[in-house]
Amino acid sequence: MHKILVTGGAGFIGSHTCTALLENGYEIVVVDNLSNSSRKALERVRIICGINEDTGASTSPANSRLVFHECDLLDQEALAQIFAQYEIEAVIHFAAFKAVGESVEKPLAYYRNNLQGTINLCEQMAKHGVKKIVFSSSATVYGVPDSVPIAETAPLRCTNPYGWTKFMCEQIPRDFANADIARSVALLRYFNPIGAHPSGLIGEDPRGIPNNLLPYVLRVAAGQYPQVNIYGQDYPTPDGTGIRDYIHVVDLAAGHVSALKYIDRHTGTEAFNLGTGNGYSVLEIIQAMEKACGCPIPYQITERRPGDAAEGYADNTLARLKLGWIAQYGIDEMCRDAWNWQQKNPRGYENASV
Ligand code: UFG
Repeated sequence: MHKILVTGGAGFIGSHTCTALLENGYEIVVVDNLSNSSRKALERVRIICGINEDTGASTSPANSRLVFHECDLLDQEALAQIFAQYEIEAVIHFAAFKAVGESVEKPLAYYRNNLQGTINLCEQMAKHGVKKIVFSSSATVYGVPDSVPIAETAPLRCTNPYGWTKFMCEQIPRDFANADIARSVALLRYFNPIGAHPSGLIGEDPRGIPNNLLPYVLRVAAGQYPQVNIYGQDYPTPDGTGIRDYIHVVDLAAGHVSALKYIDRHTGTEAFNLGTGNGYSVLEIIQAMEKACGCPIPYQITERRPGDAAEGYADNTLARLKLGWIAQYGIDEMCRDAWNWQQKNPRGYENASV
């Protein structure tokens, strides 16, 4: 059977997508350099999906439903070997650096890693006749939008080097598809992925102090930090705090399966927003998490964070019509599942036996 190559499959969105792929009968080859992820995530994907394969000598990797290669996309030789070893049908490309603040400090490292990784991947696809790719993009390519909801046709602009790498990386598979009419590309622009698998076995495990709102709120709820810093309460929104489109990571994972089916039937390039279409303010998120964990979450109002938009939520019409995809989970389920993950894994994957 042909396999789906998943780069960055041990990460937050990657591990949930691996689960969705396996549940839908796909066989997968995961490539991840583990720079910001854990192999334990994949062990737990196996548990969720009931894969108890003997990975010893009797089972060749080619026969396994989930194989893992610790490999950096910048290592062209190692990547070439993987493409030579398996019959790859399509690629889902998550692997990238993703911290906005770090990208401002180390822009060249971000451009080198994210762009070169994508180029190397497309090069191997070309060499091995692999024609389909789903690319992990971000609503960050809309920068500070002129209006909401944001449609795929909105102007693209970015406010930091991370965002620009997503902007530029979208163009690489797009031109790769332009060069061969048999190729097909889905660019998935994620809004704000939160939540965790309902099992509590896989979830978001940021290293160091989290940059994003939800992981930070979780740590405050768990008593690891004293309070949430709300970046500005003077935005032109009903309660003055920033509004975002939070989406359950399980819904996002399902969107990848829909996109894979879509590019199987269509050629060329299409960009899709993956968001619920609903916006929630920072204060509303704190309230929803208080409800989920049953404890107060202290906060203080601080300065605005440079580059932040007041408001951003998706027009998801295209994903609904073309992918047949729609988000199933609401904000309460997102907070419930995130809290379940936090409670079961207070230190993430660190020190966990499996
Ligand atoms: N916020 C706080 N306090 C925090 C963290 C965030 O008040 O400690 C606020 C932000 O100002 C913003 C909202 O919470 O209003 C969400 O912030 P996040 O950092 O969680 O998410 P962003 O919308 O800024 O960015 C995220 C990802 C990007 C991605 C983008 C897509 O970090 O990688 O969504 O829109 F590109």
